Amino acid sequence: MIVLVGFMGAGKTTVGNLLAARLELPFADSDRVIEHRAGRPITQIFAEDGEPGFRALEHQVIGELLDGPEMVLALGGGAAEHPQTRDKLSADPVTQVVYLQVGYAQAMQRVAGDKGRPLLARPDLAAVYERRLALYARVATLTVPTDDRRPETISQDVLAGLLSFYGPNGQWCPDQEGRSHADRDVAELRGRFRRDQPLPLE
Ligand code: S3P
Repeated sequence: MIVLVGFMGAGKTTVGNLLAARLELPFADSDRVIEHRAGRPITQIFAEDGEPGFRALEHQVIGELLDGPEMVLALGGGAAEHPQTRDKLSADPVTQVVYLQVGYAQAMQRVAGDKGRPLLARPDLAAVYERRLALYARVATLTVPTDDRRPETISQDVLAGLLSFYGPNGQWCPDQEGRSHADRDVAELRGRFRRDQPLPLE
């Protein structure tokens, strides 16, 4: 399992999709699975059940996804605040938790005005951000900065990081810019994560 964590606007969904395509793995975004399960958008869940209601469902859905087939999984920005979710992320040694770092100012620029992100209404959002930084770092097995960087570059950095863990005896061969990867190494990485099972999205 490759799990992406980080604050809103870090690019978890965009980068996760790129990674999944490169690794030929399924991709899931916990927020979309939660919405599907609840039959309501995130904003409506927050409005009707409050943030605690959303968090309970989030924890449950993420637990199930982590127990399911291999995939690239993007978690909502608050998921790492749940201690049991953190424990679960750390429990499986094969699971790689990728922390996409984003500065507060850039995160706000990226998500400004997004009506689908109820957390933006919180007056203490900057404090929430600060509080979470240590939690993301605690669960991460790999950290990649994203400020002023394109999703493709970030995705390549993630692959490079994963390959440095998994490449066969460090045989990963970057090109002259150190950014692309030999197909055989990506195939090797893919083999580590792939299991041919359907996704339990229902
Ligand atoms: C949240 C982030 C959102 C979503 C929900 C709460 C948060 O996900 O889970 O609105 O607490 O930071 P993204 O990080 O994908 O925006």
